[in-house]
Amino acid sequence: MTKKTANDNKTFKKGDYIVYPAHGVGRVTGVEKETVAGFDIEVYVVSFEQDKMTLRVPTGKAVASGMDLTGKTAIVTGGASGIGLAVAKALHAKGARIAIADLNAVAASEAGKTLGGFGESVNVGDEAALVRFINKVERTLGPVDIYISNAGLGVTDGPGWGAGDAPNASWNLCWQVNVMA
Ligand SMILES: NC(=O)c1ccc[n+]([C@@H]2O[C@H](COP(=O)([O-])OP(=O)(O)OC[C@H]3O[C@@H](n4cnc5c(N)ncnc54)[C@H](O)[C@@H]3O)[C@@H](O)[C@H]2O)c1
Repeated sequence: MTKKTANDNKTFKKGDYIVYPAHGVGRVTGVEKETVAGFDIEVYVVSFEQDKMTLRVPTGKAVASGMDLTGKTAIVTGGASGIGLAVAKALHAKGARIAIADLNAVAASEAGKTLGGFGESVNVGDEAALVRFINKVERTLGPVDIYISNAGLGVTDGPGWGAGDAPNASWNLCWQVNVMA
């Protein structure tokens, strides 16, 4: 019997970062061949370092499983710099349009424009402002497919520069920004 081979144009290569539903950001560590029920298939080997987990995803299923984000809309809070900006760029590289909510209006706007969407000044700890922003994203870019709640802060402003002696106002701010948003 002649073995059948999956017909596929590969989207990803070794070293690419991908966003996978339920598991978050993983890295393609290789493309391998496997034989399943008499069929030769190619799989992406995807490593999720944080969860110490490896998945094998048939290359032909990459789009259906969500690794291709063409046309998706993603909000990244705190996406004007640092980790948030890196995640925003990675999502855009896979096809998503990015909306950035950040305290830094200029950097948010610049990044949003270059990543297929827009960005503006939003304090994510202000619920009404965040709701207004999400509504605007839905009106202009479409329904939100991905929400990266990245904006956050740590408490280091107690008299001893430690979390233990920080005032309640700082803890409340952390709660609003790190948890509620
Ligand atoms: N860098 C690390 O080692 C590390 C470690 C643990 C957790 N984290 C968390 O990861 C996230 C990103 O870290 P980072 O190092 O890129 O931080 P960063 O300080 O470089 O960037 C944070 C971004 O969030 C924005 N931001 C802060 N408060 C905001 C608010 N209330 N509303 C909207 N935007 C706000 C800032 O303007 C900035 O652009 C944070 O939540 C941080 O607490 C970072």
